[in-house]
Amino acid sequence: MNFELQACAMARVGEKSEDALLLVVSSKFEAKADPLSLLVKAWLDSGELEGQPGKWVQTHRPQGTNVTRLVVVHAGEASDKNLRQAVSTGIRLLKSSPLIKSARLHLSCETSLAKLPIAILAAADASYVYTTTHSKPEGRKIKKLTISGYRAARYVQEFDRAVATVRGIELAKEWGNRPANHASPTHLAEAAKGIAKSKSVSCKVFDEKQIQKLGMESFLAVSRGSVLAPRFIVLQYRGDVSSRAPIVLIGKGITFDTGGISLKPAAEMDEMKFDMCGAASVLGVFRTLADVAPKLNVVGLIPTCENMPGGNALKPGDVVTSMSGQTIEVLNTDAEGRLILCDALTYAERFNPVSVIDIATLTGACVIALGAVRSGMFSNNDVLAAQLTAAGESAMDPCWRMPLDDEYAEGLKTNFADVANVAGRAGGAVTAAKFLQRFAGKFPWAHLDIAGTAWAQGSAKGSTGRPVGMLVQFLLNQASVPLRASYPVNPNDQAVLLK
Ligand code: BES
Ligand code: MN
Ligand code: ZN
Repeated sequence: MNFELQACAMARVGEKSEDALLLVVSSKFEAKADPLSLLVKAWLDSGELEGQPGKWVQTHRPQGTNVTRLVVVHAGEASDKNLRQAVSTGIRLLKSSPLIKSARLHLSCETSLAKLPIAILAAADASYVYTTTHSKPEGRKIKKLTISGYRAARYVQEFDRAVATVRGIELAKEWGNRPANHASPTHLAEAAKGIAKSKSVSCKVFDEKQIQKLGMESFLAVSRGSVLAPRFIVLQYRGDVSSRAPIVLIGKGITFDTGGISLKPAAEMDEMKFDMCGAASVLGVFRTLADVAPKLNVVGLIPTCENMPGGNALKPGDVVTSMSGQTIEVLNTDAEGRLILCDALTYAERFNPVSVIDIATLTGACVIALGAVRSGMFSNNDVLAAQLTAAGESAMDPCWRMPLDDEYAEGLKTNFADVANVAGRAGGAVTAAKFLQRFAGKFPWAHLDIAGTAWAQGSAKGSTGRPVGMLVQFLLNQASVPLRASYPVNPNDQAVLLK
């Protein structure tokens, strides 16, 4: 969808002639004397369009206007959630008509207009359609959305950033939604190289031999059961030439997770094509960074492979040596995400990073704990945790901090290696994070478990593009503050050092 921003007073909206007009009103709506305002006022007065968020009314060719099809949605007091709901409802209504190719979204009140990014993200989300593997793709019905408001000219920067964020979210959705036979490790590497065509982004892709040379035996052990070759993708965004240390993002890129020899049950196994949504979110963030060009440096690391059973596959009980030198007893081959992430965390050390954030569809246990509303967030650093929480709230892509008490790591002890890769069912999201923490001792670190938030189930099955919104917000916030200064090193946070 193409977006355009246009300054336009409510009194002139009736003169516009897109295929449809979606008018968002709030309880602060002030009617002037133009035909459209009077019509809305009549609907409000009659109670038909009560001051209830989400209420809508529609009509064709309202008198005295050029409008073909009008939908009015009430956003209540225009809170963030109500505005998102109103725009989403309105766009879904318009989407159901095959005739609407262009539309106007008019935000009639200043409160709504000031929340332009919310409206843009909601409109994009509601109009999104996945088409790549359909033989006759219908595509998006609404090709162009003009967003208008009285003082729209004030919000050009917010508009540009929101449109760039949409591009990132949609790239993440696209790769998340593609089935595993259309989204292999090499496909993901090609996608990363595509992003690196932007001048501020560069990309290096390591093949199996090079990964071996790096010593990433834990990552390679997961890949071994698959006939597809693994890739280790390194993306670099340089927006600050004064060479401040980078923030490192690590995305889990399991292009399909069968569980390996610890095979998963058949029901819903198709959803394990989404097990690379962490990787897709890193690609999405880089897409947005390339467009917005903020003043900071970011590195993206994507270990990507399949988790398959096979004659050569990793077996329960096998012990592998990670890049850090720590040995790992693989008690369950389905706990593979942590096995590929631990080597990427070790690799991240070489950047002397200001902070490292890994993003992973890591545990079913996190879905049980937090459902589809908030991503799980774990961190060894209170400042970083607070910044991620704040970014999640303002981007409406929220997370919730989870604990990392050392007692949770008890179950990871084993007689046969430095650490086991599982610790039983209890607190499964936390024990997974405790495993990762052992490899993140040298920098402020956060782990986002997006198992519940990265994709929707049921009839709306599909990638959500989360947590690109949160991460972009976090990074843009960082671009405006001195980075190192914001992370006081707490010795307790840094207690787990590599052996
Ligand atoms: N990719 C899965 C996690 C997952 C499962 C995400 C279901 C979303 C829905 C991960 O690799 C996995 O299989 N984790 C295991 C860990 C267990 C063996 C300790 C899990 O959660 O069952
Ligand atoms: Mn698994
Ligand atoms: Zn997995």
